[in-house]
Amino acid sequence: MAQALLKAPARPAIHQTKLLIDGRWVDAAEGGKFETYDPATGDVIAEVAAGTAADVDKAVTAARRALETGPWATMDAADRGNLMFALADLVEKNAEELAALESLNCGKIITDSIGDLGGVVNTLRYYAGWADKIEGKTVPVRGNFLSYTLRQPVGVVGQIIPWNFPLLMLAWKFGPALACGNTIVLKPAEQTPLTALRIGELAQEAGIPNGVINIINGFGETAGAAMVTHPGIDKIAFTGHVDTAKIIQKAAADTLKRTTFELGGKSPNVIFADANLDDAVAGAFHAIYFHGGQCCTAGSRLFVEKKIHGEFVERLAAKAKERKVGNQLDTATEQGPQVSQEQLDKILHYCELGQKQGAKLVTGGKREGDKGYFVAPTIFDNVKDDMAIAKDEIFGPVVSVLPFDSMNEVITRANNTTYGLAAAIWTKDIDKAHTYAKNVKAGTVWVNCYHVVDATTPFGGFKMSGQGRENGEAALEHYTETKTVTVKLN
Ligand code: NAI
Ligand code: MG
Repeated sequence: MAQALLKAPARPAIHQTKLLIDGRWVDAAEGGKFETYDPATGDVIAEVAAGTAADVDKAVTAARRALETGPWATMDAADRGNLMFALADLVEKNAEELAALESLNCGKIITDSIGDLGGVVNTLRYYAGWADKIEGKTVPVRGNFLSYTLRQPVGVVGQIIPWNFPLLMLAWKFGPALACGNTIVLKPAEQTPLTALRIGELAQEAGIPNGVINIINGFGETAGAAMVTHPGIDKIAFTGHVDTAKIIQKAAADTLKRTTFELGGKSPNVIFADANLDDAVAGAFHAIYFHGGQCCTAGSRLFVEKKIHGEFVERLAAKAKERKVGNQLDTATEQGPQVSQEQLDKILHYCELGQKQGAKLVTGGKREGDKGYFVAPTIFDNVKDDMAIAKDEIFGPVVSVLPFDSMNEVITRANNTTYGLAAAIWTKDIDKAHTYAKNVKAGTVWVNCYHVVDATTPFGGFKMSGQGRENGEAALEHYTETKTVTVKLN
């Protein structure tokens, strides 16, 4: 599915703009609406219902009923899996339309959206397969007892997702939650509500019972915050900014909700002189510029061994200058707009700060055009570890090049951050590769590759990059409670 489209897709139809509560599409209780935009133009695509605490409350009631007394509660695990397979099939069938809508709303280039849809289908199928394989244990307890464990759903889960991978983040959240028998209240990001709503329709078409999936569009401070404090929600799964996670963790304390977090990064991408340089240049380029740098795993700290530093930066800059920045629905475009005015302003602020603090601007550093939120691919060279551009998550197409001499030095510097999401190394030397992989503090380490993420492998952060893991078997831990049953034997 992940091949490029040959021609630009038709402008996708907007199917749904309301809230999905208990299988019905409804306006917001307080009647609020908000506009959602095409980031290439700033033009309004649609007005969607703006959910608030009252809508969250209704969604929680529906999700609770579906969890405890609906057909979902007594359904065979295998049948739950079959419903998930059916949803995956419908997503696959509608992939081109979903990809076009995803691109239109979040600015992702169409070829990347097609790639994301492949990931969405894989994730749903991977977890559909898990539904009837989540097993407890028999435990060799002391005494004349039989002890065994049951793994049961955590309950009603609140899932709050961001705008950079709207559908993929939805799939990462839905997959393990549904496989384990939970019910869901999802809040898409306010920037990108449209594709989640379309998935809501497809979930209904697949036959997923009413109330199992509820979708509340709205803002973080209203709808999101209401989810975090609602006593009827058992767990919050969140992807977004570290500062938002701190607010959520504090607010979740009153009801002692389970929380999992997938947060940002300032991932170190280390290039040794013995690497295949063609691959390393292409890899470093992809690491930072994929989706305009709007990736939690973006390779934004590029450590280059001093011996090859000059040549490496030259080659990277040549590629950056050639990158075709433009409308995300044009199949020839390589980099679309950033998602919003807010993100554009943040990125340009860091471009200024980098120059003020004395880094060398090699290329880019500015907006492209005067309409939409486009940023030129940007390289800063001779960056110092304590400059803001080397420390803060910029979430844009801005890379900081940091020259280094030795393995020990680069490991220390790579780890000198509050983040720990991803890391990469480019080398032909297996000693170097494994030494780095063992010592770098990151939840994912890539050797001679970058941004390779799969439904099967655990994904998450060390340190302030997160708590818990998504994907793989690891995610199931966060969506089940373990119950010990002990039986007296006579
Ligand atoms: P954010 O963390 O504010 O938003 C992410 C989600 O959280 C959205 O659905 C939002 O509505 C919700 N939210 C916001 N405040 C909330 C609250 N008080 N309670 C409950 N939910 C709340 O991120 P934002 O403002 O969209 O982007 C700011 C920065 O965050 C980006 O520049 C980037 O550095 C980082 N970010 C990281 C992401 C990642 O994948 N790790 C994804 C998106 C943003
Ligand atoms: Mg925010």
